[in-house]
Amino acid sequence: MSGQNELLSVEGLHAHYGKSHILHGVDFQVTHNEVVSLLGRNGSGRSTTLKAIMGIVPPTRGRVRLLNRDIAGARPSTICRNGIAYVPEEREIFVNLTVDENLRMGEQRGTVDAPKWTVEQMFDYFPRLKERRNTKAGNLSGGEQQMLTMCRSLLGNPLVILIDEPTEGLAPKIVAVVGEAIADIHRRGASVVLVEQKLAIALKVASRVCVMGHGRVVFEGTPDQVTSNTQLLKDWLAV
Ligand SMILES: Nc1ncnc2c1ncn2[C@@H]1O[C@H](COP(=O)(O)OP(=O)(O)OP(=O)(O)O)[C@@H](O)[C@H]1O
Ligand SMILES: [Mg+2]
Repeated sequence: MSGQNELLSVEGLHAHYGKSHILHGVDFQVTHNEVVSLLGRNGSGRSTTLKAIMGIVPPTRGRVRLLNRDIAGARPSTICRNGIAYVPEEREIFVNLTVDENLRMGEQRGTVDAPKWTVEQMFDYFPRLKERRNTKAGNLSGGEQQMLTMCRSLLGNPLVILIDEPTEGLAPKIVAVVGEAIADIHRRGASVVLVEQKLAIALKVASRVCVMGHGRVVFEGTPDQVTSNTQLLKDWLAV
């Protein structure tokens, strides 16, 4: 899978929390304009993988290459400037700023090749945010805060966006909207690494799927290959 079209490459990535060895050599690649769903059971290391790519948890071994530059161990702000955005599970917003102000805070030029996004596009995706553009973010519902976090990250015009459980705790109607937004990010040319517990959505938006277990990738394939592999579903996804 390595080659010209490769955007992000994670190779033999290890990470620890103190003495706990959590990632045991994670390997996967993301090419330009694809959505990779990172699946696995609770505790399999999906969030830690995103954090290690982002430099929030420092990798103890292995490489993270973005456009062939090794960024493993760089500071999160540097990694972000180089074109990777991260939407954490915990919503990251400025509670005392309005929706509009939060979005403006996210605006960055991004790298040359990245698709560009505007605040108005964000409002097209999520009209609810437009209605509430002058509301303090701290007064939004959990779902609205989740949307705001995702939009703010996109406004940095990333090449690839890492999204951790974006639909957790959202009403079914909003879940569908988030799914649509991810599909649209893909259509517009960005790449996505998605950690998503809801298998139906994770498989629907993905071009490729990596399944994690015990801190490494144990399966890689297409969404169809996952759906038809009952042993995989039973052993590693508990469905
Ligand atoms: N800050 C931390 N300190 C110590 N251990 C942690 C910390 N965060 C996570 N872990 C442990 O690391 C392992 C992997 O956690 P991680 O959050 O990456 O899993 P996950 O696949 O995202 O699952 P889930 O989100 O369902 O918890 C788990 O055993 C978890 O208990
Ligand atoms: Mg997690």
